[in-house]
Amino acid sequence: MNTNRRAFFQLLAASVVLAPSVRTWAQQLSSSNDPFILKSAQDALQVMDFEEAARRVLPAAHWGYMASGSDNNMTLQANVEAFKHIGLKPRRLVDVSKPDLSTRIFGSLWETPLFICPVGGQRAFHDEGEQATARAAKARRHTMILSNVSTYSVEEIASTLGTPPWQQLYMPTKWQDTEKLVKRIEDAGSPVLVWTLDLLAGRNTPTMARFARQDTRDCIECHTEGAGVQIHKPMYDGLEGKINPSDATWATLERLKKMTRMKVMLKGIDSAEDTELAIQHGADGIIVSNHGGRAAETLRATIDCLPEVVQAAKGRVPVLLDGGVRNGADIYKALALGAAGVGIGRPYIWGLSAFGQAGVERVLEILRAELKLTMQQMGTPTLKDISAARLARA
Ligand SMILES: Cc1cc2nc3c(=O)[nH]c(=O)nc-3n(C[C@H](O)[C@H](O)[C@H](O)COP(=O)(O)O)c2cc1C
Repeated sequence: MNTNRRAFFQLLAASVVLAPSVRTWAQQLSSSNDPFILKSAQDALQVMDFEEAARRVLPAAHWGYMASGSDNNMTLQANVEAFKHIGLKPRRLVDVSKPDLSTRIFGSLWETPLFICPVGGQRAFHDEGEQATARAAKARRHTMILSNVSTYSVEEIASTLGTPPWQQLYMPTKWQDTEKLVKRIEDAGSPVLVWTLDLLAGRNTPTMARFARQDTRDCIECHTEGAGVQIHKPMYDGLEGKINPSDATWATLERLKKMTRMKVMLKGIDSAEDTELAIQHGADGIIVSNHGGRAAETLRATIDCLPEVVQAAKGRVPVLLDGGVRNGADIYKALALGAAGVGIGRPYIWGLSAFGQAGVERVLEILRAELKLTMQQMGTPTLKDISAARLARA
């Protein structure tokens, strides 16, 4: 059991002001039969229940790779914390008997605005990796963005989903490799290419490295040169494999746009200035993201960056958001600040780690139910009804 929870229940059990029945109950909870350990995905009541479940099953290095951020992990924390400073202002006596969570992105109907963010190397979390995530996305009808450093290829995931995923791009440093990779993704039928911009300048990940040092396993089976990031990445088969050119500019976006019929979204735009430039240079959409606090230590939560991006976009392109989303109210707040769609990374990876497909499905199910309930509680039964008028500084 989580030490804080155990200490809390021990305190209750020892309290003289509580009724004996409550003390007995607290005593039971503080002892060995831990009610907080999930036995199945269905046991989870909130998304955060999966975090501890994932920590228990993952080896130190893989937990560290997923759970950590860059530098002092403060941007990672800021993403989550910032939502807690935004309150909600409910309206009463609105007919909320028929809530409708659906929306349209690039003309396609989404049942809910929730999407699955690209997360690399998912076989580090579960044997079935991206295949389990894709089966969950299909079963629950959510758009999945496949990472470019996935352990299954875009063709394999397209076949599992029954439709090609949106595909994230880590641009190769060699332009000819970019051409080959983009053509491969286009040939697989992906409608949207999501170019991730926030790692072009590199990153510093000491926490991840510290966790890796605790891991004493022999990693050569999966990592070509022992522990580290050198895993087999099928999307880079036949390519040199070096990615994220630090000399990329807005002209690179124009070249990319000319090369493909796919919509090109930019992931990692966090300012009004870059939003304007992105649109001028042809971006079809924007994801406000800081890589889940895994890129630069900016201390700026994505939910705090969202308003200036939405304002600068002026409705010309869809603006999506990810980072720190842990419950349905968080999704609601992002929608109220103008996000057209809201993504999750770690939450579904916790579910995947602990229970495979069933875990991912339960995370999606919980978030959808919480969003629906929040919409009803706020008197905003459709997405069009949601606006910043329903928000208050907490
Ligand atoms: C373990 C891990 C791996 C990730 N891999 C990628 C990736 O390959 N490509 C990418 O664009 N973003 C990647 N991300 C960032 C996510 O797409 C997303 O921006 C972030 O996880 C959202 O924040 P959250 O984890 O708080 O939900 C990764 C995130 C994590 C936690």
